[in-house]
Amino acid sequence: MLKIEVDPNVSRVERYRVLETSLVSLLEGESDPLANLSNAAALLAQSLDRINWCGFYLLRGEELVLGPFQGKPACVRIAPGKGVCGTAAARRETVVVPDVNRFPGHIACDPASRSEIVVPIQENGVLRGVLDVDAPEPARFDEEDRNGLERFVAVLIPRVAWGRL
Ligand code: SME
Repeated sequence: MLKIEVDPNVSRVERYRVLETSLVSLLEGESDPLANLSNAAALLAQSLDRINWCGFYLLRGEELVLGPFQGKPACVRIAPGKGVCGTAAARRETVVVPDVNRFPGHIACDPASRSEIVVPIQENGVLRGVLDVDAPEPARFDEEDRNGLERFVAVLIPRVAWGRL
């Protein structure tokens, strides 16, 4: 598991706000898209507690292909509409799965994963990929996480040259 200590006196909303400003500073002045996505994944891993995997799948043709991530090695290719990632990409909306064992077609990369959230990445209406975060406990992700991670992706989108990945 990716281990992180969290100050219980700081609210999650506040932590997501700090995450956003950290992302802005981290990517400022750098235009290499692979470097920026790698640092974005590392920042998430350092900022979110109770997770075991976080990272990106990038749209390559019709498929989602593994991009920068933190955690155990993961499945490389996800066919359109498959798994939680393919579902979020097809629907173009965030999918929160409280119990992955109850999600038909869930792709188990790390058997430790119990819940998951996937946020699609769309640049001016063009699907570029998804952000996937997995947790080793059920129901880890709620509305605050959905809002926080959607904001994270919104801040990330204009700072990555998706066409050059
Ligand atoms: N569980 C995902 C696959 C990716 S791994 O969790 C890293 C899915 O069902 O799409």
